[in-house]
Amino acid sequence: MTYMEKFFEIFKQNIKTERLEMRILAPTPENAKIIWDVLKNENPDDFKYMWYSVSHKSHLTESVEETMERMKLDYESKNGCTYYIFNDNKFIGYMRIHFWAESRTLQCASVWFIKSAWGKGFNTEIHNKLEDLAFNKLHVNRICRQTMAGNLASKKSIESGGYHLDGIDRQSNRMPDGTFMDHLMFSKLLCEYNK
Ligand SMILES: CC(C)(COP(=O)(O)OP(=O)(O)OC[C@H]1O[C@@H](n2cnc3c(N)ncnc32)[C@H](O)[C@@H]1OP(=O)(O)O)[C@@H](O)C(=O)NCCC(=O)NCCS
Repeated sequence: MTYMEKFFEIFKQNIKTERLEMRILAPTPENAKIIWDVLKNENPDDFKYMWYSVSHKSHLTESVEETMERMKLDYESKNGCTYYIFNDNKFIGYMRIHFWAESRTLQCASVWFIKSAWGKGFNTEIHNKLEDLAFNKLHVNRICRQTMAGNLASKKSIESGGYHLDGIDRQSNRMPDGTFMDHLMFSKLLCEYNK
C-alpha cells in the first residue's frame, strides 16, 4: 500500500468526535440540497476572510448548483478529503484537508462553521481528532494551518492549538477596499505533538 493509499484508508470515511460527525458526502443532488438549505441562510459578511483570500480560494458557494460542483471537485480530489460536519444530525460546517505524501505533511486547507456554531470549541474538537489520526495513525511529520492575519477567531484557534508561526505571506490577500492583508502560515511537528 502506498502512503497516499494509507491516507485515504484512514481519512476517507466518516469520523466521529465527542459531539460531532465529520461525514464524507457523495456529490448527489440530495446532499447538495442539504448543504445549500443551511448555507443560503448565512450572511456572506461573516465569512469575509474566506471570500477575499486570494491565496487559498475557499469561499462559500452561492447556489445549489455551485454547491454540487464544489462537492464533485472535493470528492474527486487525488490527495484530499472533505468533511461535512454535523452536530445532532444537523449540518453545521465544512473542512477540507490535503496530504502531501512526499513531505509527510497534512494540510488543513479550509474550515468553516455556520455562525450559530461558532465559539463552542467545535474547531478545536475537529483539529484534535485530525491530529490524533495524522500523528498517531498516519505518522505524518507535520500538520500545517493558515489564516488571514485579520481573522482573529481563526488565528486564536490555531495559536491555542499550539501551532508555530512559520512565516508570513506578506500582503498576499487583496481586500474589497483595495488594501492588502498578510497571510499567516503555521505548523505543528510530530516532535511537538502532545508536548
Ligand atoms: C474561525 C472558526 C472556524 C473558529 O471556529 P470555532 O469553533 O468558533 O473556534 P473554537 O470555539 O474552537 O475556538 C478556538 C479558540 O479561539 C477563540 N476564539 C473563537 N472565536 C474568537 C473570536 N471571534 N475572537 C477571539 N478569539 C476567538 C476561542 O476562545 C478559543 O480559544 P481558547 O482555545 O484559548 O479557549 C469560525 O469562527 C468560523 O467558521 N469563522 C468563519 C469562517 C472562517 O473564517 N474560517 C477560517 C478560515 S482560515
